[in-house]
Amino acid sequence: MKFFIKTFGCQMNVNDSEKINHILSDREMERTKEVEDADIVIINSCAVREKAQEKIFSFIGRLDQSQKIVVSGCVAQSEKDLILKRNRKVDFVVGTHQFYGMNEIIDDFLLKNLKGTNTTLSKEWSEEVPDIYSRENRFTGFISIMEGCDNFCTYCIVPFTRGREKYRPYRNIFDEAEYLAENGFREIVLLGQNVNSWKDQKEGVSFASLLSRIAGIEKIKWIRFITSYPGYYESELIDVMKQNRNIARHIHFPVQSGSTRILKKMGRNYTREQYIQIISKFKSEIPEIKFSSDFIVGFPGESDRDFDLTLSLIEKARYDSLFSFIYSPRKHTKAASIDDNIPAEVKKKRLQLLHELQKNIQLEAHGGLVGKELEVMVTGNNMKREGELLGRTESYKIVTFPGNHKPGEFVKVTIDSFGPHSLRGLEVI
Ligand code: SAH
Ligand code: SF4
Ligand code: F3S
Repeated sequence: MKFFIKTFGCQMNVNDSEKINHILSDREMERTKEVEDADIVIINSCAVREKAQEKIFSFIGRLDQSQKIVVSGCVAQSEKDLILKRNRKVDFVVGTHQFYGMNEIIDDFLLKNLKGTNTTLSKEWSEEVPDIYSRENRFTGFISIMEGCDNFCTYCIVPFTRGREKYRPYRNIFDEAEYLAENGFREIVLLGQNVNSWKDQKEGVSFASLLSRIAGIEKIKWIRFITSYPGYYESELIDVMKQNRNIARHIHFPVQSGSTRILKKMGRNYTREQYIQIISKFKSEIPEIKFSSDFIVGFPGESDRDFDLTLSLIEKARYDSLFSFIYSPRKHTKAASIDDNIPAEVKKKRLQLLHELQKNIQLEAHGGLVGKELEVMVTGNNMKREGELLGRTESYKIVTFPGNHKPGEFVKVTIDSFGPHSLRGLEVI
């Protein structure tokens, strides 16, 4: 039997798909890259915005009648009934905490031509998911350290799709990091919706000390963590970063809005000023540090003045990169009951203004990198130009350059040209 996995959404889902892949490969099912060849199609879904959710429905619509279909992930968790109602073809709906039962789903349902669902949310961290599993990517290892979120930002569906925060025990995380280091991985990314609230109470380990212990593992070149919530910042983190050069000098630090009034409505527990203070403190202690961020535009009640505050925050922070989204009302959330009073054109215009500003900031920053030597981790071939490689810098910038190296190798590149979204250069020999 052959299976195909389609993954939508964030790194959490990518990581869960790798685990599903591991479970199925273990029973000698073959993974196929062509959806038409698959007997079983697994769709690992994302519910964060309406558009993301709609994607799975159109994907299902294109599948063959004879294929078995399993929907997993965040839409599976939050919209089980809707999925079954809209798509008679779907055979099983499995929630975010239950995919480790994929073998039973196949044996007890799919192979018996039965339909079913399982969307129970667990209260504890589940070690039924294999700790160490075969990964597609052989040089960047994602390690989930927690699941769920307790913040309940008023616009966000994640606490409803991933449940309450559950922390993975320190030992398991450390062992997995060590295993990855021994097996040739050079970059580790600690994953969670809200990583800085991670702790292991039994062992008395905080998030900062987890980082410091992982940084002590030999051979790991870059340690990253996503996503940090600006409301729980600790100075211990700065100290640990200063002491360990292998913690990447880049933090994804989503602020969502530059207006304290809107932040309050969003249920984010920090002000514009506090956020600026935190990033200034990082920059003064670690001058080479870079930040990236997420923004939502058009949150209900966002005035021109609020939006101007967002633009001015972007100018102040001078992010290396950012992601921005038009507000999308989500089921279960508090904000969904507030009147979404901003016309679609205004939202689009604001998004466009934000993009333009950030594009100019990136062009300016990239211009300043010409002639500089940057360390780049090779990620693969540049499909657009033969003989060229693609790589990423410590702050996640894309670099293209001619050369011949394997993914995962670190190379020094002198930058000679640039665009708003990437850099080009020549290898330093
Ligand atoms: N845990 C992370 C991000 C989770 S979702 C954090 O707290 O930052 C990723 C991003 O999607 C968010 O940062 C936010 O910018 C965006 N997002 C979440 N819900 C949204 C919604 N209802 N409409 C538009 N964007 C949303
Ligand atoms: Fe969603 Fe907020 Fe939790 Fe991030 S911190 S996952 S935006 S509720
Ligand atoms: Fe989407 Fe779920 Fe991630 S909603 S962004 S896949 S946690």
